Amino acid sequence: MPAKPTALRSDLILGIESSCDETAAAVLRGPRTILSSVIASQIPIHRRFGGVVPELASRQHLLCIDTVINDAMEKAGCRFEDLGGIAVTYGPGLVGSLLVGIQVAKGICYTHDLPMAAVNHLEGHIRSLFIENDEIPLPALFLVVSGGHTSLYLMRRDDGRYDTLARTRDDAAGEAYDKVAKFLGLGYPGGPIIDALAKHGDRKAFAFGIPRMSDRSLDFSFSGFKTAVLRHVEAAGITPLGFLDAEGKEPEAADCTKPTLDLLASFQEAVVRTLAGRTMKAAWETRAAAIGLAGGVACNSRLREVMAEEGRKAGVPVFITRPALTTDNAGMIAQAGWEHFRRGETADSTLNADPSAML
Ligand code: KG4
Ligand code: ZN
Repeated sequence: MPAKPTALRSDLILGIESSCDETAAAVLRGPRTILSSVIASQIPIHRRFGGVVPELASRQHLLCIDTVINDAMEKAGCRFEDLGGIAVTYGPGLVGSLLVGIQVAKGICYTHDLPMAAVNHLEGHIRSLFIENDEIPLPALFLVVSGGHTSLYLMRRDDGRYDTLARTRDDAAGEAYDKVAKFLGLGYPGGPIIDALAKHGDRKAFAFGIPRMSDRSLDFSFSGFKTAVLRHVEAAGITPLGFLDAEGKEPEAADCTKPTLDLLASFQEAVVRTLAGRTMKAAWETRAAAIGLAGGVACNSRLREVMAEEGRKAGVPVFITRPALTTDNAGMIAQAGWEHFRRGETADSTLNADPSAML
């Protein structure tokens, strides 16, 4: 495997993502054209456990990664020898799952003499915004909000470095959604289900305190919301539904009582107001010229609405991608990889998974 290519053989990058419960491959031409993007979701497998079971996840990645990659190559109409390089997620994520993607990437790179880029999953989420947007004004502030992470990063220059301004001190925002949904028996993953049901509830019905950090840092904390939900459930006598075990079926508003819908709407409002409030404070403090929203929770309809409104009020443009690029996908990994190759940064065959990689 060449250690440091001076130029790529072609502008086609194959991205591979297997950090959690999605096996994904995508072919990107240049920095912004997705020729194919294939995602095999494991949601039906993990659903009845109300969360991802790591051992099942890595086994499933092993079973389907070849098919997913071949499918992406076929849809893009190219062969491995047409590629310029391969970008693969090395962390953070589940170690067994990450290793599947890394080993397959190494194998293809070795066989076809291709350079490999090691991409941080969180960088991938940020770079998803650069697929649809040619120019994001800098310095740009990015809120990466997913099932495992809730962080604010500042990108001063387009040089691959990100300053971490805040992270969560306990649960991630997506994790809070998933745990509340599990507790209320709504199904998995909780984010999209609660997002849909919350539209039918009263956002002001239940009180949620917005946590403030005593040291005035911008860090997040979401575990208190989960505890508040438990308290409200007891006080209002709300009974959990049984949708976690129901095969693939998701609850509709008609399946829920009014207090349940109100509680979900109030919980979501508290999460969204926390995310938006902290992001706008950071944007003001850093004089950010733009704000970007990335990660699975950036699909949330209320978060998109509130962030767009807050950005308008502050006169700062807010960038959000379409949902297919927001949740885990390999197009974002290929985009980040393209930037690595552009800067001449490649990984070698000693690349290992780093489950707790920092950005
Ligand atoms: O980025 P992602 O696909 O995977 C990780 O890197 O974690 O994010 C998955 C998370 C899950 O917690 C899921 O519940 C949440 O994103 N999510 C949402 C929505 N869609 C997905 N949360 C709130 N509202 C949504 N519409
Ligand atoms: Zn992710």
